[in-house]
Amino acid sequence: MHIRDNVFIVSGGASGLGAAAVRMLVEEGGRVIVADLQQEAAQALIEDCGPAARYVPCDVTSELDAHAVAQAAQEDGPLRGLVNCAGVLAAERIVGRDHPHLLETFERVIRVNLIGTFNMTRVCAQAMAHGAPADDGERGVIVNTASIAAFEGQIGQAAYAASKGGVVAMTLPIARDLARHAIRCVTIAPGSFETPMLSNLKSESQQALAMQVPFPARLGRPSEFAQMVRSIVQNVMLNGTTIRLDGALRLQPK
Ligand SMILES: NC(=O)c1ccc[n+]([C@@H]2O[C@H](COP(=O)([O-])OP(=O)(O)OC[C@H]3O[C@@H](n4cnc5c(N)ncnc54)[C@H](O)[C@@H]3O)[C@@H](O)[C@H]2O)c1
Repeated sequence: MHIRDNVFIVSGGASGLGAAAVRMLVEEGGRVIVADLQQEAAQALIEDCGPAARYVPCDVTSELDAHAVAQAAQEDGPLRGLVNCAGVLAAERIVGRDHPHLLETFERVIRVNLIGTFNMTRVCAQAMAHGAPADDGERGVIVNTASIAAFEGQIGQAAYAASKGGVVAMTLPIARDLARHAIRCVTIAPGSFETPMLSNLKSESQQALAMQVPFPARLGRPSEFAQMVRSIVQNVMLNGTTIRLDGALRLQPK
């Protein structure tokens, strides 16, 4: 799929990996809807990006918001891509000091990371399916963001790993389902990346994570995530799979 003159939605686009994807898509000549809860961060980003990017407030768990974002995108031209980056992290042990793992935490993480990804996917795929195909016959591409925690969840990550495992598991059925509409679906499973999500961890934990990466022995850069998004969008043979982007990191139990 060409990026130039096509319209893309980036959920969670106000920060971190999503913001890097927004910048890349704008640099490549695309038009981008930043769909996020964080208005201030999104406004700052779109001011930086210029008129090719605009902000539409969105909670990815809301059906109404998903429809509003898809509609806004279609006003700008044919919707050709969705990059699902919205996500939340949670760390909680199953057996706590005073109480078991809160069900509420588990439900919140599944709701945003898994159900939110599916909600945006279903609504945007419907919009893409109704568009005319591009020159190469392709109608659209969906890029999801899982995590290597889908494969090696750490202690305290039962909810997060389950949510990302769900994203990995639904990638192939979504790709198979949408193949008849010429829409692809590919998931990226990042290792540890330098974003506001990780900066909430203690600096020792961040350093420990960076040291565990075999090569390069550092945290990933959001621009490297965006580079992978660009490859997926542009390479029509990438479909129905999950790509690890982790410098060979295999997460340890803690
Ligand atoms: N940073 C990492 O090391 C890392 C590793 C693996 C996977 N990931 C995944 O990458 C994605 C992006 O993470 P990040 O590191 O850029 O984090 P981030 O916190 O910088 O960005 C996440 C964005 O998602 C938005 N968001 C959260 N809940 C939302 C909702 N309900 N509706 C709309 N927007 C919502 C936030 O406002 C924020 O702008 C997440 O799905 C995360 O799980 C990150």
